[in-house]
Amino acid sequence: MTLESTPDSVVSAQSTAPGSEWWRTAVIYQVYPRSFADSTGDGVGDLVGITHRLPALAELGVDAVWLSPFFRSPQKDAGYDVSDYCDVDPLFGTLDDFDTLIETAHSLGLRVIADMVPNHTSDQHEWFQAALASPEGSPERDRYMFREGTGPNGYLPPNNWESVFGGSMWERVTNADGTPGQWFLHIFDKSQPDLNWENPWVREQFRGILRFWLDRGVDGFRVDVAHGMIKQAGLPDYTPPAEGASMGGTGSVDASEFTPLEPGIQDPTAPPEPPYWGQEGVHEIWREWHQVLAEYPGDRVLCAEAWVDPLEKVALWVRPDEMSQAFNFAYMFTDWKAPALRRVIDESLEAFGGVGAPATWVLSNHDVIRHASRLALGADAPPQGAGIGPGSTVKPDRALGLRRARAATSIMLALPGSAYLYQGEELGLPEDIELPDAARQDPTWFRTGGEKYGRDGCRVPIPWEADAPAYGFNATGASWLPQPSDWDGYARDAQEGIVGSTLELYRSALRSRRELNLGGGSVLWLNGYGSSVVAFRNGELTVIANLGPVPVELPVGRVVLASEQIVGGVLPTDTTVWIAPN
Ligand code: NOJ
Repeated sequence: MTLESTPDSVVSAQSTAPGSEWWRTAVIYQVYPRSFADSTGDGVGDLVGITHRLPALAELGVDAVWLSPFFRSPQKDAGYDVSDYCDVDPLFGTLDDFDTLIETAHSLGLRVIADMVPNHTSDQHEWFQAALASPEGSPERDRYMFREGTGPNGYLPPNNWESVFGGSMWERVTNADGTPGQWFLHIFDKSQPDLNWENPWVREQFRGILRFWLDRGVDGFRVDVAHGMIKQAGLPDYTPPAEGASMGGTGSVDASEFTPLEPGIQDPTAPPEPPYWGQEGVHEIWREWHQVLAEYPGDRVLCAEAWVDPLEKVALWVRPDEMSQAFNFAYMFTDWKAPALRRVIDESLEAFGGVGAPATWVLSNHDVIRHASRLALGADAPPQGAGIGPGSTVKPDRALGLRRARAATSIMLALPGSAYLYQGEELGLPEDIELPDAARQDPTWFRTGGEKYGRDGCRVPIPWEADAPAYGFNATGASWLPQPSDWDGYARDAQEGIVGSTLELYRSALRSRRELNLGGGSVLWLNGYGSSVVAFRNGELTVIANLGPVPVELPVGRVVLASEQIVGGVLPTDTTVWIAPN
């Protein structure tokens, strides 16, 4: 057997920026309320269900919980279409249920992050209804992005922008007298009209909404579409490069192919930034929000969902007077290749560290193919948001995907900074690729006429108990998206206490991460293992991940964590190991 050689040198060191705030090193668990736990048995998860299951998250070892939107909403985009920002949707419970949830979470040592959706409201929001009922040019219309159409009688939309979910970004309204009227902008579904963030009234309303939830005790906000709220003046036409109309991301990135540029120098070959993403004006909003959070004690956090490239640009969202963290989508979409991973880790630590912010790491969320499936797809992965389903030509290999997912998570949780987990990944859940068409709910599916499956496959309610109705999601067996019949083996109770289960791997990784203060550490690259290996030290810990086919000889030491069984002192393919000194 040929073995990769052992390292001889430490080549570079990167650490995360210093600071004492809890979120700099936190592991944050995303709860998707519809699919986490359902106390009423109606098939949709709710706040009481979440509260009952919080002890399981405390025991898993995470620091905080991010709740996807639970506000009042017609649920056209699963709650990312808010009709009242200061109330809980009856589907999920009541404000009292929320108060109980947050009190319980805090008593368990878990922080709670709400999901704020400021780019757009629901079309059922009273502000939008008032805008529709008000004349052109009125203050009510100025809260949204209304424009005249082009062409004879304005029958064409104001520009050629395409919605992220497919089709035009513009919808025409009908006047009270039945004549066609103005058009309004919606980056997403037509039920999600974009607000006009140039309007001070809108800004003032949101400062009030933030205070409403901060007063109720939330520890911060994940901010939806934090790159989209200001549009380029004049709303110029834009033609995206092929497959560009995603939330800003692509299916996968091979960072090894990137040519580095000097900081601040634009890549002349890069496609132009769409005129609705990443405009300079958004930063003033984050400075205002920073000030609102600073009125409150206890290091409240703002996390940006900002789909912009490159990482240096993402870092602008987390300058000291703006937000605290931004999701690292470049990391999420990096190919399962060692050079690419090393590169993106370096670039992340440098970009975020350069502005004094912690790097963040994420592999899955409610918008992307679960990494236990995605990592088996490689270059065949569809563009972000397109999803996979029964008719897809590529099908991920479950065993390969899970093996790589476990190895990938074991790299991620050893990195300094803050990491995000998506519910169910601790169970090794794959994407549900067999969801029947009739069950689909994602607006992407409808707006593309079924051409793109969308994101439902990662949103199926998660399994808690192998032998219970709906795998313990509720007591009735109802489920808003049908659960696969072969998920019993993934259920939490089927993995508890089982050596080698994915649940136990996560528990153990989170425990060691905390004990060894990996979140507050640094990355020292270890050279000499060969190009298919990611090897670094974080403090006393040595982390080695073998992404290639050739087994790697392990150094002497105590194995703290292994994503697969280690036999004979060698690290097999698609496996990560954490080694401490004896
Ligand atoms: C990003 C959210 O994560 C996604 O689920 C949603 O559809 C869009 N923003 C629109 O709010």
